[in-house]
Amino acid sequence: MFKKLASFLIPINIYKRKSAVSTTLEVTWANGELVLDSKNTNYSYGSLQRILRTGLKSIGFDTIQKMESILVLGVAGGSVIKTLTQEIRFKGKITGVEIDPEIIAIANTYFKLNEIPNLTILLEDAFEFVTTTNETFDLIIIDIFQDTTMPDFLFEAPFINRSKELLNPKGFILFNTMLIQNSDSERNQNYRNHFDTAKFNTRTIPRVEQHNELIIIKKR
Ligand SMILES: C[S@@+](CC[C@H](N)C(=O)[O-])C[C@H]1O[C@@H](n2cnc3c(N)ncnc32)[C@H](O)[C@@H]1O
Repeated sequence: MFKKLASFLIPINIYKRKSAVSTTLEVTWANGELVLDSKNTNYSYGSLQRILRTGLKSIGFDTIQKMESILVLGVAGGSVIKTLTQEIRFKGKITGVEIDPEIIAIANTYFKLNEIPNLTILLEDAFEFVTTTNETFDLIIIDIFQDTTMPDFLFEAPFINRSKELLNPKGFILFNTMLIQNSDSERNQNYRNHFDTAKFNTRTIPRVEQHNELIIIKKR
């Protein structure tokens, strides 16, 4: 309780270790909230949670509540999963896919993800998962970073085409991206161009919390 209160004055780090995927992983009390950060960016809770919440709000909490299955690619501390289960009260099935076992250990210890009954976490590369799964989803949340880097596969046709196939009719993709270099806006526009406008509606929420752009795709 003391650390939580004191963190309104100054961030208090309670866990830090090196990570093969994310350089470092840190758990810190900041402004009365426990957050998870990689070396150069916030991973879970804090601004990341606000960014994805903005995207979910734009899709509509009521629409999401009626869905049956949600896929979260990139779990980390699971802040979007907390928004889904605690705030939206989503009761359907959530599948989380995460490449880094260390981060899931942190998520369970500090953020109690293992206490969410409708969540299944798979320790797997997201590209492998989308290539091999037979399941389909009403909402796919793509939130994959290695520190501030977004892997190239996210913007390439094999991954994009599989994401389209895994989406149920009237389903949504919510894709969190970072705009750091000038070329990143063009990269995002190219991503949107993969979606045929006769079959998909695409839009963006630009400059959510400075560096992030959310892309929202809806299957018609
Ligand atoms: C910004 S964090 C995710 C935050 C999370 N969605 C939340 O709401 O708190 C990005 C995550 O992507 C994971 N990641 C990176 N590359 C991946 C890959 N190829 N497959 C699955 N997860 C990956 C990282 O280990 C990290 O946990």
